[in-house]
Amino acid sequence: MRVLVATEKPFSPIAVEGIKKIVLEAGFEFALLEKYESKAVLLEAVSEVNALIVRSDKIDAEVFAHAPELKIVVRAGAGYDNIDLEAATKAGVVVMNTPGQNANAVAELVFGMLLYAVRNQFNGKAGTELGGKTLGLHAFGNVARNVARIAKGFGMNIVAYDAYCPAELFETNGVKQVLSPEELFKEADVISLHVPSTPETRGSIGKALVGSMRTNAILVNTARQDIINEPELLEVLEARTDLRYLTDIALAADAEAREKLGQRYFATPKKMGAQTAEANVNAGLAAARQIVAYINDGVTRFKVN
Ligand code: 3PG
Repeated sequence: MRVLVATEKPFSPIAVEGIKKIVLEAGFEFALLEKYESKAVLLEAVSEVNALIVRSDKIDAEVFAHAPELKIVVRAGAGYDNIDLEAATKAGVVVMNTPGQNANAVAELVFGMLLYAVRNQFNGKAGTELGGKTLGLHAFGNVARNVARIAKGFGMNIVAYDAYCPAELFETNGVKQVLSPEELFKEADVISLHVPSTPETRGSIGKALVGSMRTNAILVNTARQDIINEPELLEVLEARTDLRYLTDIALAADAEAREKLGQRYFATPKKMGAQTAEANVNAGLAAARQIVAYINDGVTRFKVN
């Protein structure tokens, strides 16, 4: 049984060692492909593997066609929009994710970006505080719940919208539930996006929602780029010079946004929400354990196709 870790954005060395140990202890073979520069390299690397661990790496029908021995792909992370589930199912490959394992890391980055923004990029000028402000969470999954936990430490009030989350979960987490995105965007000083990328959410954050935000509001995106309607977002940000957009996934028009919006736009150079040693260990080791459990005992917990 051959397990390949194929990550264009590498895990921390300690996570790779941990994954390797689990794989070898199960009596499987371990292979590693990091920072690969082209799809062709990935296609060649998967030709004899039975199990695959990936991050945001694009795994499509072509990859499955080049991997005739593949039984399982685990996305070490939460969002699996990078994997073609239909093609996986057609190829008889099980796909899993590792929900929650990197959630704290992403949640901490939300506050890193927020502090950087409200303290004017630490330039010495008077900024503002997060305490007493209202935070709006768009979706209330693992990352958003961690954001809520940290926000309480800052003394923020928290409201959240999630159409799929049971009402009692908001209550047990001390969060006020609102019943529509429209209500959410109007009620908060900071909106943090946590919806997955799905046909329903793609392009859903546009003019109407962003334009309805409070004066001096901040929009934070540590979710996915394609949930944003980029032309509409840029239009609103140009018209409303009080608004700010902080994102872990740069806009396609990144250079233009930097030029036009200045410090009201901040994007990390590479998606780094889950890029901590701890998150890599949590998600990477969970992925390796899920593969061993599936191959040895047929355990399909966290299967998404
Ligand atoms: C996730 O969906 O788990 C996060 O977006 C992290 O993605 P990454 O593994 O590419 O950093």
